[in-house]
Amino acid sequence: MIYLDNSATTRPYKEVLTTFMQVNELYYANPASIHIAGVEANTLLVKAREQIAQLLKTEANHVLFTAGGTESNNFAFYGVAKKGNFRGKHIITTEIEHPSILEAAKRLESEGYEIDYLKPDKNGVISLDELQEKLRKETILVSIMHVNNEMGAIQPIAEAATIIHENSRAMFHVDAIQSFGKLSIAFNDEAGPDILSLSGHKIHALKGSGVIAFRKKPMLEPLLVGGGQEFGLRSGTVAVPQAVAFAKAARLAIEALPLQLEKYKKWSANLHAYFAQFGTDVFVLSPKNGAAHILSFSVRGLKGEILINALQKRNIIISTSSACSSKQTKTSHVVEALNVDSQFKNGVLRLSFGAFTTDEEIQAFKEVFTAIMKELKGANER
Ligand SMILES: Cc1ncc(COP(=O)(O)O)c(C=O)c1O
Repeated sequence: MIYLDNSATTRPYKEVLTTFMQVNELYYANPASIHIAGVEANTLLVKAREQIAQLLKTEANHVLFTAGGTESNNFAFYGVAKKGNFRGKHIITTEIEHPSILEAAKRLESEGYEIDYLKPDKNGVISLDELQEKLRKETILVSIMHVNNEMGAIQPIAEAATIIHENSRAMFHVDAIQSFGKLSIAFNDEAGPDILSLSGHKIHALKGSGVIAFRKKPMLEPLLVGGGQEFGLRSGTVAVPQAVAFAKAARLAIEALPLQLEKYKKWSANLHAYFAQFGTDVFVLSPKNGAAHILSFSVRGLKGEILINALQKRNIIISTSSACSSKQTKTSHVVEALNVDSQFKNGVLRLSFGAFTTDEEIQAFKEVFTAIMKELKGANER
């Protein structure tokens, strides 16, 4: 199988699975227990937290483990909103966030918070001027994703952070779920974002593992209450094997980043040039300067499922652009926000690369896609 759906989820690294199994087998004790087995499990947890903090250039007690990207995003959104609502109830986000932000925003709106949604341009990039205009004294949170999961647009996070910090007291949260391990992000910088969300299964770790990291002391209301784990901010017995696996995958991803990025850039440029050969029959939604591991495109008048099935018959797996969030059949909010032409908007598909993608797989995709386009043309002419 040629798997080109790495933005939906990734195959775990072998080493990560081995670590996960070993920790489950040998260090299964509750890390909060005071007996020796608990202390040993906790030692691993502390180490995993320190390793992630080191990679993010923050402090260990600023890193909390969650059950995934959705929880990290929800936690940042509700947690900061609830903690900061004595200062104001105004929040800024964008029209093209992941549903784990947009649905949280909707819920807060129903509770009386006011949310402004920044509109992206046709390349999916927000306007920094609009961000500055929308900031107010009572803005408590700005949440902007780093890389869009549906089409790969990269937001100007460093510049946005400067504007936010110079003009407000708002916390700046960044959904870095599609960018961590693929692009670098200046988190240690005084002028950088305040909070990052990460998800394990996007970086070849395990599903159901995530991190929410803070540049400074976490200031947010817990979502989950109970035993007071994770510095009293996220109750629930910590999944030590998940945490250790996450730390391992994160290290491997960061180590491999320069080499991987080179490959992604090569494949992205190659595929942009390849799709251009089809003239106006193929529309590429991903901007050339977007994240190189995501490439979204659409064939004129063709429903996405038809192409997905045709590729699948030849063992190539790709997905609709929003496959990581749901099996939705309606046009995605991102495609709507970008005003994609009606002839293309119902067929947007996404190729996304990961650590296991190879040159041969990209070549095979092109050959199969060319054959399918020929078949479709032939069928149309008959
Ligand atoms: C940008 C982005 N944010 C959030 C999520 C949610 O992460 P998770 O699947 O770990 O809940 C995803 C993927 O589904 C995503 O691509």
